[in-house]
Amino acid sequence: MKKYDISIIKGDGIGPEIVDEAIKVLDAVSYSCGFSLEYKEYLMGGIAIDVTGVPLPDETVEGVLNSDACLFGAIGGEKWDTLPRDLRPETGLLNFREKMGVYANLRPAIIYDELVNASTLKPEVIEGVDIMVVRELIGGIYFGKPRANDGETAYNTMVYTKPEIVRIGKKAFELAMKRNKRLCSVDKANVLEVSQLWRDTMEEISKDYPEVQLSHMYVDNAAMQLVRNPKQFDVIVTGNIFGDILSDTASMVVGSIGLLPSASTGDKTAIYEPIHGSAPDIAGQGIANPIATIESAGMMLRYSLGEIEAADKIDTAIKKALKDGFRTKDLAAFDAKEVVTTSEMGDIIANNINK
Ligand code: IPM
Ligand code: MN
Repeated sequence: MKKYDISIIKGDGIGPEIVDEAIKVLDAVSYSCGFSLEYKEYLMGGIAIDVTGVPLPDETVEGVLNSDACLFGAIGGEKWDTLPRDLRPETGLLNFREKMGVYANLRPAIIYDELVNASTLKPEVIEGVDIMVVRELIGGIYFGKPRANDGETAYNTMVYTKPEIVRIGKKAFELAMKRNKRLCSVDKANVLEVSQLWRDTMEEISKDYPEVQLSHMYVDNAAMQLVRNPKQFDVIVTGNIFGDILSDTASMVVGSIGLLPSASTGDKTAIYEPIHGSAPDIAGQGIANPIATIESAGMMLRYSLGEIEAADKIDTAIKKALKDGFRTKDLAAFDAKEVVTTSEMGDIIANNINK
């Protein structure tokens, strides 16, 4: 039987709850498809600070690098917000992404037919939305130096080198080739030098992909267009901070931030994580939506392990749960037959695997 080593990072807040549900579904689907998953758990974020004193223990870095793929929940919470920046959970996550070299964060925003009424936008605007946001993940203003805050003046630096832009650009063009061959590059080239280099480089790369129709959009307009007419987008490629913001917007287009999975990929390994945070305000109440994490586990099977049938089964099982009217609280619009808890949703999807 094929066996894969999966590293698990549950993290803080709702992280442990949602990851447990994804594991439930992974167990059901691996059993059903005849392969086995061996999990090893590692610490990161607030819990790592509490247990080891640092947000990203070396053991976590080592363990994940030696695994076939990593499934990650979420980190952060008020308890650690007053720590010096280098000791914060978020710094642990950013260092983790950098150490894993996962420069391309793929955030698909696809509407489930069953949920066209769950979005705050009109059904005719969102029906059929299928967008792939390709967010650069280990550069830009999140990592640029110099950065400082002396209490009087504070600054960060948005920096991209040409090789960094080429690397993410190629990834986005490749993805567009497998989809509808439309790529929209989002920047702020009317104001920022770094965006001008981004735009010029995307134009250069496009010469190698004549079939892909490349367009450019300023980020403010893109935010507006995403809610005005999301169906105009196929693949969006953008820098770290713009991608962070636009993917949250895209998540509400398709119904809830609790639905968007992501794959953070590079040349060494891949991390699969929901795009949402640790939501400390709802942690421990059993109301978090586990679907983004379950979908992330599905992306892990598809992209890192090549277990396509299993990944398809997860998609089908989620769709069936939604079709049958089960909704977590975030989605409980008027069409919910039954509002279920986090673990009930996990059970329902796991049980659907064999139906
Ligand atoms: C995300 C999150 C993170 C980010 C935070 C927690 C550092 O918002 O994955 O989108 O900004 O990248
Ligand atoms: Mn975010």
